Amino acid sequence: MPESTLILRADSPDAPEIKTVAEILKKGGTAAIPTETVYGLAANALSAEAAAKIFAAKGRPADNPLIVHIADLSQLADIVSEIPESAKKLAENFWPGPLTMILPKQPHIPEIVTAGLNTVAVRMPSHPIARALIAQAAIPLAAPSANRSGRPSPTSWRHCVEDLDGRVDAILCADDCDIGLESTVITLATAVPKVLRPGGITVEQLRSVLGEVEVDSAVLKELAPGAVAASPGMKYKHYAPRASVIIVDADADSYIDFVNTRTEAGAFALCFEEDVPRIQLPCVTCGTADDEATYAHALFTALRELDEKGAAVAYARKPSASGVGLAVYNRLLRAAGFHVIKP
Ligand code: TXA
Ligand code: MG
Repeated sequence: MPESTLILRADSPDAPEIKTVAEILKKGGTAAIPTETVYGLAANALSAEAAAKIFAAKGRPADNPLIVHIADLSQLADIVSEIPESAKKLAENFWPGPLTMILPKQPHIPEIVTAGLNTVAVRMPSHPIARALIAQAAIPLAAPSANRSGRPSPTSWRHCVEDLDGRVDAILCADDCDIGLESTVITLATAVPKVLRPGGITVEQLRSVLGEVEVDSAVLKELAPGAVAASPGMKYKHYAPRASVIIVDADADSYIDFVNTRTEAGAFALCFEEDVPRIQLPCVTCGTADDEATYAHALFTALRELDEKGAAVAYARKPSASGVGLAVYNRLLRAAGFHVIKP
């Protein structure tokens, strides 16, 4: 672990603080950095020693591979050994942006980055500060979400400080993340492209470009004990606050009637803003019912807020599982350990 953490703020892609952090990363250090999805914990993706520091800082299991971030398409050929037509089409349509592609790896990508797999995950983020940083460091950056393993992903620099102060060389602070959920992960290493993790780029958008796209069964279902996960990250109870989360599968009225019958100590409602006036429990809100993107944007902050307020149990409104709602539901299911009830 480093002796101390340098905490800096960058307000634009020209900010001099970006250079400082780029130098730290070039020398093999670690830094939490903003992206449009969630904050990432970055290190040189071409150095096994630098990547090892990410696993140590997060307490991340060694069998969970990292995403490699690039700023320019010209960096891709040095990371993956094959760029199929499907990857070119996806890059044209969705990069830079919240899409991660799994492709066969180049032999020189360290094993620790890919957790020993023969594929590598690559993403080109759209956040102007992330792009400036990768360009100035002039190396691809391995970066998982910048949370301690098992905690909700960080969507504000404050979450990075909470989880990683004293464990990384630098934290580069910027505004809250626009999207608020991690990128969509799609593998192109299977005969039919398959979504391993839903995110900001929806399955519908991917199908409009590629035609047939499968969705891995682990997206909405708990893996059977001992089953091998296509995406190792999906097997962990992720994104979890300390409170137990219970998803309530009901329309607005039945949800509100149900939570108003709950009397146990420390019970909270994780509800939409418009539900608050009708709910007797203390509430933490997650956007509005008519816009899944607002639920996505608010979810991880809301999960942390439940802990700050000392919630013992939180009853969450089930999001609609279409569009970005699929990603919200996927994260919420993991936060809830797949506990869904129908009142
Ligand atoms: O939006 C994001 O993707 C953020 C920002 C920082 O870019 N990063 C992120 O990384 O969410 P992480 O490590 O929290 O999630 C990476 C996911 C994990 O579920 C991991 O198992 C999967 O991608 N993954 C990485 N490499 C893989 C590979 N070669 N095959 C299958 N899954 C892979
Ligand atoms: Mg993560």
